[in-house]
Amino acid sequence: MQQLLVTGGAGFIGSNFVHYVMANADARVIVLDKLTYAGSRESLAGLPADRVELVVGDVANAALVDDLVGRLSGPADAVVHYAAESHNDNSLNDPSPFVQTNIIGTFTLLEAVRRHDVRLHHISTDEVYGDLELDDPQRFTEATAYRPSSPYSASKAGADHLVRAWVRSFGVRATLSNCSNNYGPWQHIEKFIPRQITNLLQGGRAKLYGTGDNVRDWIHADDHSSAVWTILSRGEIGETYLIGADGEKSNREVVSLILESLDLDVDDFDHVNDRAGHDLRYAIDSSKLRDELGWTPEYADFSEGLRRTVDWYREHQDWWAPTKTDVENRYAAGGQ
Ligand code: NAD
Ligand code: TYD
Repeated sequence: MQQLLVTGGAGFIGSNFVHYVMANADARVIVLDKLTYAGSRESLAGLPADRVELVVGDVANAALVDDLVGRLSGPADAVVHYAAESHNDNSLNDPSPFVQTNIIGTFTLLEAVRRHDVRLHHISTDEVYGDLELDDPQRFTEATAYRPSSPYSASKAGADHLVRAWVRSFGVRATLSNCSNNYGPWQHIEKFIPRQITNLLQGGRAKLYGTGDNVRDWIHADDHSSAVWTILSRGEIGETYLIGADGEKSNREVVSLILESLDLDVDDFDHVNDRAGHDLRYAIDSSKLRDELGWTPEYADFSEGLRRTVDWYREHQDWWAPTKTDVENRYAAGGQ
């Protein structure tokens, strides 16, 4: 049976991928996750114990990573690398864990897959490309130059460069993907969409940074998982694929849709302090993935996907409510 090592598999997107693999493939998964504030065992609950093993540990722990990668020896076995510090606002308050996990962690994994000659798929973000003007007719492609703005995106860019260097210099068998902003169940409530939903569910107000004109290109996490599976199965070694679902929306539009789906007043939001260095717009051209590998997203209708996400947070208050006050206190301290 195919064996996968999924780093960061107890986080928002990594756990979605583990569920995807269980539902769609005959494979076993070892999850390596440090269970930081962003990881949760609950996101993996109910999966078959004989096919999913959770190892709690650090992707920058060379001995542990070497041991886990060394367990992969089948022809289709692979590492899928999601583990990262992932929130821009946190990277502005303290960049150190971003450099440690995103760069040193990726380096540690690369050395292990080099030693054991194991296939790697590296998960990255469109934020490595910096931002676009609102009226720029070009979207990001695989040929766009790197121009990261924040400690988060710079650390992800550094990791991407390491992966490409290990492919070229050492013949490591790796593919890369850079995806746009994800939404869906199990996303930590520090992030934009779940923060607004949970604020409103608790009778508070939505919080828009600055003008609210910033644009993100939204994709449902299920579609990210199917794209990663497609690349893992049919992608060409050494290649990078951009993942996106043509979901551009301004933050203000997203807040309006959330308010609408909760039957609340369209004005139930506040403008709060803007983020330092706030990227204006991200937009992905995913033609390469669609044309060469035949991938298409299933969530064509963002407002429908968002409505289902609102319902999910309404039904999972037990999961998020205990951390809500702490998260909001941290934002309040920064005027956000
Ligand atoms: P997340 O913060 O929800 O999850 C990250 C997971 O990694 C958590 O389970 C955490 O415990 C684990 N982790 C953190 N440090 C670790 C370490 N040192 N060792 C082992 N595990 C560690 O993040 P996410 O939103 O699920 O993002 C997953 C990946 O996808 C990241 O690489 C991120 O850069 C990338 N990505 C995210 C988005 C997005 O919109 N969220 C978009 C594109 C790409
Ligand atoms: P976020 O979810 O942090 O993702 P990223 O920074 O990776 O794009 O934020 C998405 C957008 O929403 C971004 O433009 C910042 C903005 N934002 C708000 O307007 N209010 C908020 O409370 C948060 C957390 C983010």
